[in-house]
Amino acid sequence: MVRQTILTVDDLIYPLFVVTGRGIKREIPSMPDCYQQSVDNIVQEVRELKAIGIPAVILFGIPDSKDETGSSALRDDGVVQTAVRAIKDAVPDMYVITDVCLCEYTSHGHCGVIEKGDVSNDKTLMLLSKEAVSHARAGADMVAPSDMMDGRVMAIRQALDSEGFSQLPIMSYAAKYASAFYGPFREAAESAPQFGDRRSYQMDPANRREAIKEVALDIEEGADVVMVKPALSYLDVISDIKASFVLPVAAYNVSGEYSLVKAAARLGWIDGDKVMLEVLTSIKRAGADMIITYFAKEAARLLNS
Ligand code: PBG
Repeated sequence: MVRQTILTVDDLIYPLFVVTGRGIKREIPSMPDCYQQSVDNIVQEVRELKAIGIPAVILFGIPDSKDETGSSALRDDGVVQTAVRAIKDAVPDMYVITDVCLCEYTSHGHCGVIEKGDVSNDKTLMLLSKEAVSHARAGADMVAPSDMMDGRVMAIRQALDSEGFSQLPIMSYAAKYASAFYGPFREAAESAPQFGDRRSYQMDPANRREAIKEVALDIEEGADVVMVKPALSYLDVISDIKASFVLPVAAYNVSGEYSLVKAAARLGWIDGDKVMLEVLTSIKRAGADMIITYFAKEAARLLNS
């Protein structure tokens, strides 16, 4: 009766990594129990997720071929687009979110197109808009731009509206920090930058008030849900955003946060289940309305039992 924070399976969004081919299920070495999977296996997995009550998934695509502009991200027959169609066909009431970004699709691994050795913000906007529209056409329920280009929420909103998707919400990775906690994800998504780093477009981990500015801009541009990422080292930021705005707040409990807990649990140094639930509860306590987490399945099993 007096507990102030209750974590439930309804809060959880499970990330999935989609590859081309059939019958593929490859464990990601730095993320135990997480896999790169072909669409057939993804659909099977989504059925299981639905059965244990997980309401939503977010999809990341790993294409067969990469190029300078990440053109495979925009194809209607691309890896994410194909997965969305298959999931919505097989499990229509699973809520499907798509990550909108170019880093998995570019040969250089940056989140936008390169011009004179750095990412060109404005040239990237058009590509992201096309990618979002193609996810929408495939049947995505919400698009989630994670690139951190300035102005991309407005560009995507306008593109969606003009293509007949004015009802489709945007979850913006609004306060996304240039974090070393993304390391395992970059292995999973094969998206590590081949030169430089992402500090010209992602935020400085030392900056707290700047997050409020980033979120305010995205809301002005039309974001429907705003995200803080990573989560665990940024609980103060989650709390600030929750207090400053009325939109739903998402938090991304990122790959490195997952791997730390998994590794220590495997070594027998911590009680993995208890630490996992404590981590997720603390993210919710800080103010997250929804949590994207690789723990979603394990947490659901414990929360349901
Ligand atoms: C793509 C993207 C990244 C993550 C989600 N979308 C990596 C990055 O920005 O380098 C990280 C997620 C995680 O670590 O779990 N831009």
